[in-house]
Amino acid sequence: MTDDLGPGSGIERRRCERLLRELYENQTATVEALSRRLSRPPADIHRLLELLRQSGCGIETTPAGVQLNDISWPWWKAMLEDRSGAAGRMLGRHVLAFDQTTSTNDVCWQAARQAEERPLLVLADVQTRGRGRRGRRWESKPGQSLLMSILLPAALSNAETLTLTAGLAVAQTIETLAGVSTAVKWPNDVLVDGKKIAGILIETHWANPQEMDSPTVIDHTLGIGLNVGQQTADFPSQIADRAASLAMISHRAWDRLRVLEALLEQLERNCLHPPAPASLITAWKARCTMLGQLLRVHCGGMEIVGRVADIDPLEGLVLRDETGAVHLCKARETTILSP
Ligand code: BTN
Repeated sequence: MTDDLGPGSGIERRRCERLLRELYENQTATVEALSRRLSRPPADIHRLLELLRQSGCGIETTPAGVQLNDISWPWWKAMLEDRSGAAGRMLGRHVLAFDQTTSTNDVCWQAARQAEERPLLVLADVQTRGRGRRGRRWESKPGQSLLMSILLPAALSNAETLTLTAGLAVAQTIETLAGVSTAVKWPNDVLVDGKKIAGILIETHWANPQEMDSPTVIDHTLGIGLNVGQQTADFPSQIADRAASLAMISHRAWDRLRVLEALLEQLERNCLHPPAPASLITAWKARCTMLGQLLRVHCGGMEIVGRVADIDPLEGLVLRDETGAVHLCKARETTILSP
């Protein structure tokens, strides 16, 4: 975990945090202005800036002043908790941030067993056993992705609705940031120009899983992987021609913390204060390009080939096979085999 990283501790660390916040909010500021705002002499500001650079922050001195280009990982937790509190946002108020972990969803499973605050946001720079749906792997390298999981109490969510609200939030965030259109692929992929840019993995925690008749849902983990800085060569070769990142679709670099904040804002709107389901479903369907597509799926132990007659993100996929028979394929029981 990153709690003990970053320069110094105590007072020095808090001064660095204040300076970072000033730079983050103001983009560019002169040393004199920073000195006034922090009530520290200019020499101190130079020293703190140097400490921040040494901890990996991208800080540039331009004729207009000091400019923050990138916040290094050790500062994320403090920045997020502070800014979420100030913005009145629930998501981001309780954060665990890891340089490396097996899977942020695993961390949520552990946290679910303990009395951790909820919603809890778990972040990692890199995962060693990141997972996708149906036992697939979700690969990552440091500095490139948003890898996050949110532990949500069941009272605030159910798995089907989360698939809809979270997938839509990811799509809307990408549209707002990069000014592109996105598509959603049922149940939970987000694509730009036919290439996958984000995936979502929702897992449910049960209080009494052994009682199959009446298991009680206590929490959900909403896991999101969003590709931010990758270029084609960064993806595993098997998926490189089908994967995209924010950098690839917009031809520019992105500060992951700002991307995360934009996503948290949208997730909070969609998932914690959801509008009427009908408007969410309309917004989701407007982005779904699968109607009429010929699909081969595995559903409830059967393989089905059919055209998509309808999709309801809450109910599932409706396929009509060549005999005219109609099959309702629920998200939990269905894997799309092709295309
Ligand atoms: C998929 O498309 O199959 C879902 C991918 C979900 C990946 C994210 S990355 C953060 C979280 N931790 C994981 O191990 N998986 C999810």
